[in-house]
Amino acid sequence: VNKPNPVHVAVTGGAGQVGYALLFRIASGQVFGPDVPIVLRLLEVTPALKALEGVAMELSDGAFPALTDVVLTDKPAEAFDGASWALLLGASPRKDGMERGDLLAANGALFGPQGQAIGQHAASDIRTIVVGNPCNTNAMIAAANAPDVPADRWFAMTRLDENRAKSQLAAKSGTPVGEVSNLAIWGNHSATQYPDFANARIGGRPVPEVITDDAWLNGEFISSVQKRGAAIIAARGLSSAASAANAVIDNVRSLNAGTPAGDWTSVGVQSRGEYGVPEGLFFSYPVVAKSDGTWTVQEGLQHDERAADRLRVTIAELEEERAAVRHLLG
Ligand code: NAD
Ligand code: LMR
Repeated sequence: VNKPNPVHVAVTGGAGQVGYALLFRIASGQVFGPDVPIVLRLLEVTPALKALEGVAMELSDGAFPALTDVVLTDKPAEAFDGASWALLLGASPRKDGMERGDLLAANGALFGPQGQAIGQHAASDIRTIVVGNPCNTNAMIAAANAPDVPADRWFAMTRLDENRAKSQLAAKSGTPVGEVSNLAIWGNHSATQYPDFANARIGGRPVPEVITDDAWLNGEFISSVQKRGAAIIAARGLSSAASAANAVIDNVRSLNAGTPAGDWTSVGVQSRGEYGVPEGLFFSYPVVAKSDGTWTVQEGLQHDERAADRLRVTIAELEEERAAVRHLLG
């Protein structure tokens, strides 16, 4: 019997919170399927290697049939060697009272060298999802430092925002969350993002037909999704981890298996000017993915004046972030 070749999955920040909630689910086959062998390639900073060894001991104790090897390293070249996926979690999280953009000074510089190492060492089919915040602009930095990797292989994670928005709409309408579809997060993974209820559907019907409380949709709904990360930090004293890992899994699965017919998913991708967004910004759009790994931005969605204003605000924030990291863009 021919066994498939293992998928090499590089994860940075493997000893961190999100990593701890993610790695066991990848090893269990929930992402690539129970019969696809996996090699985990875990990158950490040198002082965290001991903790990473502990994580590897627990991975071993999981006796996961699909997990064929675990590589632990503090060298990006080794971590990304032959990787088909790079999940970039390794970066500081924000604390209570901070915005995610406040992390740019501390985290932005990590992503240039990692982008370079991905460009030089990863497999030719590499796809990278940046989770470390501020993830849109960090993804831009990584991609700019790997000019030979096609632009459509870089992603910034806004799936957690999509999932949050779907749960809110399900709860408000008293509908199972699986009935909520076509939910796009537009823009930055930040307090300026626009969770687009107007183009979303519940049981196939436009959300504003099902939830007629416009004040709630345009008010509490949007702001609760925008500020959910901060609310988790205020409640837990730490930023979201299990829900973030869950979103990484959803994100990889959507990009790998494709989005369901008629639906889309939210993910930050490099703008080619779609919907008037300046080229080159990493902007979360409704993305239709196919199982061959290709994807397109869904065209033709309408925005009313209020939504258009919100898009302008999140674009302006991303432009400011880009200006702040010009020196890191290679
Ligand atoms: P954490 O502090 O628990 O873990 C981060 C880990 O990254 C640490 O173990 C640290 O040693 C490691 N690290 C730091 N620099 C590194 C480098 N250069 N190379 C490799 N590893 C490095 O943080 P966390 O709670 O796991 O969060 C990780 C990041 O993910 C944060 O930036 C957080 O804001 C972000 N996040 C994003 C989303 C999202 O929806 N996009 C959701 C949750 C968390
Ligand atoms: C989240 O959305 O929960 C993460 O980006 C962490 C944060 O800082 O909010």
